[in-house]
This record gives sequence, C-alpha cells and structure tokens, in this order.
Amino acid sequence: MTTLITPRDIAGIVAAHGLPALLQRLEAAITADFRRWGEFDKVARVASHSGAGVIELMPVADAHRYAFKYVNGHPGNHRLGLPTVMAFGVLADVATGRPEVLSELTLTTAMRTAATSVMAARALARPGARSMALVGNGAQSEFQALAFHHGLGIDRLALFDVDPAATRKLQRNLAGVAGLKLRVASSVADAVRGADIVTTVTADKRRATIVTPGMIEPGMHLNAVGGDCPGKPELAPGVLAGARVFVEYEPQSRIEGDVQQMPADFPVTELWRVLTWTADGRRSADEVTVFDSVGFALEDFSALSLVAELARGLQLGARIDLIPALADPRDLYGLLGVSERPGAAQVPGRLLAA
Ligand SMILES: NC(=O)c1ccc[n+]([C@@H]2O[C@H](COP(=O)([O-])OP(=O)(O)OC[C@H]3O[C@@H](n4cnc5c(N)ncnc54)[C@H](O)[C@@H]3O)[C@@H](O)[C@H]2O)c1
Repeated sequence: MTTLITPRDIAGIVAAHGLPALLQRLEAAITADFRRWGEFDKVARVASHSGAGVIELMPVADAHRYAFKYVNGHPGNHRLGLPTVMAFGVLADVATGRPEVLSELTLTTAMRTAATSVMAARALARPGARSMALVGNGAQSEFQALAFHHGLGIDRLALFDVDPAATRKLQRNLAGVAGLKLRVASSVADAVRGADIVTTVTADKRRATIVTPGMIEPGMHLNAVGGDCPGKPELAPGVLAGARVFVEYEPQSRIEGDVQQMPADFPVTELWRVLTWTADGRRSADEVTVFDSVGFALEDFSALSLVAELARGLQLGARIDLIPALADPRDLYGLLGVSERPGAAQVPGRLLAA
C-alpha cells in the first residue's frame, strides 16, 4: 500500500508540532541532506513552458529513496481562483521502485522554501540581522516571514506588493505574532531602505526587475525567491554584479535563476559548499550576498521524507492501493477479471489485501 498525505494531514502535522518547530525541523533536514550532496543523483528539473506559466518535474535520488515533485507556476491563476504554485510528489523505494508515499506538496513547498531561505541566510546574512523587506505578499510570504522571525530573530518587516489586497492579507495573518513589527511600505525602494535582509517573492510572467543597484546598501543579504524561471528575474544584473551570489544547483540556476542574466562564467557558489565548510559564506560585514533561490529537488526529497515520518508518528495519511497487490505478480491481466469467452460473466479480479 501507498500512504496518501493530503493538505489536511499537513495541517494536522502543523497543529501537533507547531509551525516554528516544523520549520526548524525542515531546515535541519534540508541542511543534513545538503551536507551529503555527493550521495545524490541530481539533474536540473524538466520544465514545460506555456504562455500562461510553467509545469516542472523535479526528480532526485540517493541509494535508498527516489523522490519527484510535480509543480507549476502560473502567476495569473488567482484570477481563476487557483494558487500560482500547486504541487504534489512521490517518495519511492529505490530497491524495488515501489511508491511508498504520495503527498501534497503545495503547503510543503511553501514551508520547505522558507526553511531553505533561512538555511541560506543563517550562513550568509550578517549576524544580528533584525529587519527584513518582504516584497511580494502572496501565498509564500507568511511562511517566509515566520521562518525568518522564529528561525533568525527577524523582528521588523517592511511589506510591499503591487496588489494592496495581498499586503492586507499578510498583515491580517501576521497580526497576532508576538514580537514582530510590521510596516507597510509605499514602494520596493521604501521597503528595502535600511533592511538587513531583502526577500523578494513575487510572481509575474513578464520580465519584472524588482530590485535595482541604487537600492542596495552595504552588508545586505538578498533572498531572491521569485526569480525561478527563464525570463522571470527579480534582481537587476547590476545587483548581482556587485554581490557574491550563492545558488542551489548550478546547472539549474544558470537556466532559471537571476544569474540567467549574467555571462556563463559569472562566479556563483553552490550553497552545499558553504554548509560543508568547503567555501566561504559571508566574508565581511560590508559584503552584499545574494541567495539566488530557484527551488531544488533535494529540498523536496528532505521535506517529503520528514512529513512522511511525522505523518506516520501521528497516524495521519490514508493507505491507498495505488499499485495493485497481486496474488501472482506476473498475472496483471487477471486483475481485470475479464474473460475472453463470449458471454462469460465479468467478475472482478482477485486483489490481495496488502
Ligand atoms: N525559489 C523557490 O524555491 C520557490 C518556491 C515556491 C515559489 N517560488 C516562486 O515564488 C513566487 C511567489 O509565489 P507565490 O506562491 O507567493 O505566488 P502568489 O501569486 O501567491 O504571490 C505573488 C505576489 O507577488 C506580487 N507581485 C507581482 N509582481 C510584483 C512586483 N513587481 N512587485 C511587488 N509585488 C509583486 C503579486 O501581486 C502577488 O501578491 C513565484 O514566482 C513562485 O514561482 C519559488
């Protein structure tokens, strides 16, 4: 049997463990997997583009488990009552190929993305960073805000979105968070002014440059989450040129990240190197650092593994027979229960209770 984990199950996990603790566990799980980078079979995700958006498949495996995620990005979806980003994924046993878990990954992606952002900022932002600009106040934004507040001690947020309704929603959802001060900014420049960390998490199909060199102050760390597709960057090339840039998986980031705008030899550092102390993170208080986040399959592998373990512990998740359990594994046809004899009764095939 395969375990099916739904958004309701994820809400149950959050209710049982609390969001701050879950984000912390996700960060720890992703960090641990990035530290064993060499053990994974990796590939840049496969993207299928259309005029409205993109649909992507993201596979990764170690010697024991294989994971993939299906995810889309359709910035106009809110007009149809659908989220911009929707996802689900599978965790399978490498030894047999059997899919063990089929899980929602829409909520899980938002949490793993925020946890990955904090993991990067822990290595790259100035110690003592307390203020953050949050540009783009859509579905991902609460998770980014709360991960940085609980994980890194960010206590002041400046919010900006081209859609004031999105900012009002974010304010409403964060209103009860103790020790977190919110300021609604009048522009990107107003939000970014004086911020220790700048998080951009916008969605737009057009090429929209959100942050320009004139906005950058010495020592800033930029967490650029929304620029994750060809033709969809958030940072002007001059911002990247003046910074040290860190990526998840270079072959994928060169295609999808903000660094797509830079020459092929523009220097980038893969984050796992910083996490394994084989490359420097921040070198000085004045340095500008950029985490050019696009989202890598390994983050979903870590998140899927963790939510599967937590669901098991809480007895959440339905057992479904996604794959037929057969009395004779070579008699797949027998499952259909059809007879070739004309007029013969159509009886259901014999399924084993697994
Ligand atoms: N890097 C990753 O791992 C990762 C993971 C998940 C999502 N994403 C990306 O993050 C982005 C946001 O995702 P979401 O689910 O929150 O989308 P969403 O549609 O719910 O929210 C996006 C928000 O950005 C705002 N926006 C658009 N253009 C803007 C601009 N020029 N200035 C300010 N605000 C602007 C929109 O009004 C909207 O409120 C998407 O581009 C998505 O692809 C990246």
